[in-house]
Amino acid sequence: MKFQEISNGIYYCGLNDNDRKMFDELIPLECGTTYNSYLITGSEKTALVDTMYPKFTQKYIQNLDENGITKIDYIIANHGEQDHTGSIPTLLEKYPEAKIVTNATCKGNIMSMLHVEEDKFVVIKNEETLSLGDKTLKFMISPGVHWPDTMFTYAVEDNVLFTCDFLGAHYTFESCMADYSRELEHSAKRYYAEIMMPFRTMCKKYTKQVRELNPSWICPSHGPIYNNIDFILNLYEDWTSDEGKNMVVMPYVSMYGSTEEMVDYLKKKFESAGIDVLKFDIVTGDLGDLAMALVDATTIIMGSSMVLTSPHPMAANVAYLANLLRPKAKFASFVGSYGWGGNLFGKLTEMLSGLKLELVEPLLVKGKPTQKDFEELDRIANEIIQKHENLFLAKV
Ligand code: FEO
Repeated sequence: MKFQEISNGIYYCGLNDNDRKMFDELIPLECGTTYNSYLITGSEKTALVDTMYPKFTQKYIQNLDENGITKIDYIIANHGEQDHTGSIPTLLEKYPEAKIVTNATCKGNIMSMLHVEEDKFVVIKNEETLSLGDKTLKFMISPGVHWPDTMFTYAVEDNVLFTCDFLGAHYTFESCMADYSRELEHSAKRYYAEIMMPFRTMCKKYTKQVRELNPSWICPSHGPIYNNIDFILNLYEDWTSDEGKNMVVMPYVSMYGSTEEMVDYLKKKFESAGIDVLKFDIVTGDLGDLAMALVDATTIIMGSSMVLTSPHPMAANVAYLANLLRPKAKFASFVGSYGWGGNLFGKLTEMLSGLKLELVEPLLVKGKPTQKDFEELDRIANEIIQKHENLFLAKV
């Protein structure tokens, strides 16, 4: 495969993984993913920015051979996770003169994960530069998107920024250049929801930093490369903003239909009030869709049946996941149904405690909801509608 040139002497040398179905064994991939690697050929030195997922090392090395790459001086590791560093041991065997250039935190991770010897590293600090002759690489240590070891590499003369996982997407392609489609936007949002949303504050900070730098190209380590940088930066400015959308997300699991009946009742109330609703069946739904809704939702209402004396395990899994993903939602409530007793909401509330949500008094019913229970649902709906009106109508 001939490497695609992005800018003068800077090439894409990553690979598609069309068959990968899950990432982090957590959220399904709709379009596979890519592991991006970049070759930078200066007048004196040659560098790789990030490498390859271990499973594809052989093909990656074969491509370097087919493109006539006989010498690598530097392997820039923007992040220690093995989907980008996995080929380093093989690269060091093939190019024994190569040095790994990275920050101190990332060096420690690579040594632990890949057992690379310490003398193979050149450790850089923030804003330090490395000359390749007619090209200069500048390192921007950017912890927290999404590991403490992350950094960006900036090719100064070419105005190309390599952002590692930040601004990425799980999206495969023939050409590595972004197609700016709705599908790409969808994949980038799904990726943000799972990988970057827990670090929203850091994402916001770095989005601003990238905006100010104004690179001609943004080259992440998954998904396509952007020369219309507004496409991805505008999306990140929206997703990372402190304000949610006029939206309620309602993940639920219902064993005999009572919980779903309550969820449906609330859904109609919210929709009549002009609020967008995602009703999400936890058992059959795709967790990626839920994560994407959590990027925007202002309110989370969970519905759960009781299993023995506790929330349904599928509901507990979603509460745990939502707590990890740290969405910007402000309000929450619960509805649920039981047969003979137990603690439904205490445990779910505890699992969501990291989100600091303002809780609207939930509703637990025995068996099927009665007329009195529907009046209670009206109370929940009205309280949440009022809160949304205060947030969203005030701005109209
Ligand atoms: Fe794509 Fe955090 O590795």
